[in-house]
Amino acid sequence: MPHPINLPAWRQLTAHAGEMGERHMRDMFAADPHRFERFSLRLGDVLLDYSKNRITAHTMELLTQLAGETGVETARAAMFAGEAINTTENRAVLHTALRAHDRPEVAAVLDKMKHFAQAVRSGAWKGATGKVITDVVNIGIGGSDLGPVMVSEALRPYHKDGLRVRFVSNVDGTHLAETLKLCVPETTLFIIASKTFTTQETMANAYSAKDWLVGGLGQDAVASHFVALSTNAAAVAEFGIDTEHMFEFWDWVGGRYSLWSAIGLSIAVAIGFNDFRRLLDGAALMDDHFRTAPLAVNMPVVLALLGVWYNNFMGAAAHAVLPYDQYLHRLPAYLQQLDMESNGKSTARDGSPVSWQTGPIIFGEPGTNGQHAFYQLIHQGTKLIPCDFLAAATTHNPMGDHHALLLSNFLAQPEALMRGKTLDEVKGENPSQSEAQAAHRVFAGNHPTNTVLYKTLDPHTLGMLIALYEHKVFVQGIIWDINSFDQWGVELGKQLAKKILPQLNGTAPPADHHDCSTAGLIAAIKGLRQ
Ligand code: F6P
Repeated sequence: MPHPINLPAWRQLTAHAGEMGERHMRDMFAADPHRFERFSLRLGDVLLDYSKNRITAHTMELLTQLAGETGVETARAAMFAGEAINTTENRAVLHTALRAHDRPEVAAVLDKMKHFAQAVRSGAWKGATGKVITDVVNIGIGGSDLGPVMVSEALRPYHKDGLRVRFVSNVDGTHLAETLKLCVPETTLFIIASKTFTTQETMANAYSAKDWLVGGLGQDAVASHFVALSTNAAAVAEFGIDTEHMFEFWDWVGGRYSLWSAIGLSIAVAIGFNDFRRLLDGAALMDDHFRTAPLAVNMPVVLALLGVWYNNFMGAAAHAVLPYDQYLHRLPAYLQQLDMESNGKSTARDGSPVSWQTGPIIFGEPGTNGQHAFYQLIHQGTKLIPCDFLAAATTHNPMGDHHALLLSNFLAQPEALMRGKTLDEVKGENPSQSEAQAAHRVFAGNHPTNTVLYKTLDPHTLGMLIALYEHKVFVQGIIWDINSFDQWGVELGKQLAKKILPQLNGTAPPADHHDCSTAGLIAAIKGLRQ
């Protein structure tokens, strides 16, 4: 496969971006009253409006051509077929199989999760002293935390009253300590979530949680207060968890794609298995759409292509995710891992260095909070930042005018970003102001946004939305000719931290291989501790 920059569509898009640079969306909307219908897609209760982008029908044709020339359809087929497309680890990438209904081993684990979730929720699962569980603490990090915590927060209206699901990820002891202050050993159940069961942070937290429990209830209590989610049965057993209480998954489930697997147990406990199944079914609907819809009308493909357009042809380095939905307050953090750990790569699949831009910087906050923080830069700064706006048409919490206020902002921001405000408009509002004063009040506009509107944030819709972003990231990885499914970039820091630990603890001599900054800081920490 030739590198993307050598493909005909890439060259044509480069030329086309030059032409499009001059064109303002305000004029494109004025010229075409059907732009919304032309550039929007619907699937179930989800609507994607991508009309507020710096595109014409020709732009989309060229981008779709790029998807074709980079082999998106072949790669998509290879992923669904279970080929080892994660070539640096020689693994299949089959998170889609977790929400389909065709694998017996998946069905067996889901069944085990169902029974466990029901037992905890009904009170049939008892702690060591016979009390029912009131607090479930998921200990994990990265993909073993971000997906579960994001979904658990998003689906709070579906939680069971009186059963609190908490998440501990940071190796900073504060995270566990503050969580344990809210729990008592007799009624607390720990879910240790780790694909490898070797991750330093998770194991440190798991051992400290075990000490806390054993300190309160004795060693024998571990069996009824700890379960594990992992691919590594030997390490689970070594930790002291009966593998009967281990929920298995497989190496073809990437960490950041794992919330659909046993890693989702905390979600199933929080919302019940039936709603967990609805989450999977929503994702399966998006999978089906992604697998079968032609590229030009394929929601994840279109989102991916728009991202490529700005990232590679218009110089955008970042992408903002702006949910106008408080329940989605962890979505930006979740998408940071999904997108940046997947596509933050600079080596092409053939091992050569890339000479084109790959994954963007993902950031975001719920609206309207972000409006009062960083939107200034998006409106009037010097950087182009495409944004995704997401909102539900209905709310779980009807309260006065709140939802209408929220949605009016959700609609106003993309309109303002698109349209801007001209000097003449500014002067028209206040003819007495000076030219210099007026200049500060001008908005260039022409800032691109996608709008994702859905009926209600329910489990099915959330499943669709997450799968939408998973497949978007996949398509971009294929276009950029990188492996979206490894994460070698996180290893070096882990290696160095292991070497520094004994030096900090004084069990190893200060090493002379450090740079003087690191050595100086180690010495400073030791000094400040005294
Ligand atoms: O350090 C990165 C990473 O490997 C992520 O990809 C992964 O989701 C996380 O660590 C946690 O890994 P594990 O589930 O094996 O503890």
